[in-house]
Amino acid sequence: MREYIGIDIGGTKCAVVRGDESGRILEKRSFPTTDRANTLEQIFEHTGQIITDRTKAIGVSCGGPLDSKTGVILGPPNLPGWDYVPVTEYLTERFHLPAYLENDANACAVAEWRFGAGKGCENLIFLTFGTGLGAGLILDGKLYRGACGMAGEVGHVRLFPEGHTGYGKAGSYEGYCSGGGIAQYGLGSARELADKARAGDPRALAVWEQTGRNLGRLLAILMDILNPDVIVIGSIYARAGDLMQEACEQILTAEVLEPSLRACRVVPALLGESLGDVAALSVAMGIRE
Ligand code: BGC
Ligand code: NA
Repeated sequence: MREYIGIDIGGTKCAVVRGDESGRILEKRSFPTTDRANTLEQIFEHTGQIITDRTKAIGVSCGGPLDSKTGVILGPPNLPGWDYVPVTEYLTERFHLPAYLENDANACAVAEWRFGAGKGCENLIFLTFGTGLGAGLILDGKLYRGACGMAGEVGHVRLFPEGHTGYGKAGSYEGYCSGGGIAQYGLGSARELADKARAGDPRALAVWEQTGRNLGRLLAILMDILNPDVIVIGSIYARAGDLMQEACEQILTAEVLEPSLRACRVVPALLGESLGDVAALSVAMGIRE
């Protein structure tokens, strides 16, 4: 079987994996993201250690903005100092293999479409709902990138005129439907708030209810505009979706057009903890245009 290297560059940690074309992970290295030079050095070192002569290509998944055509990372907010990093050029130079770069949410959308909750679907929306909030759009059976690769930046959309900050913008969706956004209530991290809510803490339960309402409104907007077959949601939703579900469904049902609601499933990511790894591998396997 063909093998690939997948590299997932996150704001707090990175992973370098080797896997095969069925999406199976064969070897994995993880390490914390530090400064740019050191992190790149670690990426090259680990790649060099796990690459084999069956490896066909290398894929990098990373938060935007980035240019997937040229393979350049363009200063994502969660990676300070990564202002212009031609990462695919570096990798090809070192390992003499084709290398590709893709937005993390797009990569996850493709992974869930090929190997997860969206198998066989023509229209899939993936929402990261992790540290940040981004979307990947599969429309009419292919990844939709838009004019310059910026399609799906739903976290930047304004929900309220003022409020929590995401993307440096007060009131934006990333300030609410993300780990960073939830932390801005000042009651702890999303993980802590999930534990507190499960123990019955009313303030924590109220945060999840509010988060559910905000998410419901976002789902209604996405369904009304794009009429997807499925919306797959990762990370925090996959772990704490039950705490948001009732409020989310209530708003969604009230706000969306009924035929679009009936046509669409809303599900947690199926690939769970390995989603980021399979996403990076999917980038290496090549994303059909
Ligand atoms: C970035 C998106 C990314 C998302 C999740 C946002 O801050 O702008 O490109 O997909 O975070 O990492
Ligand atoms: Na995207």
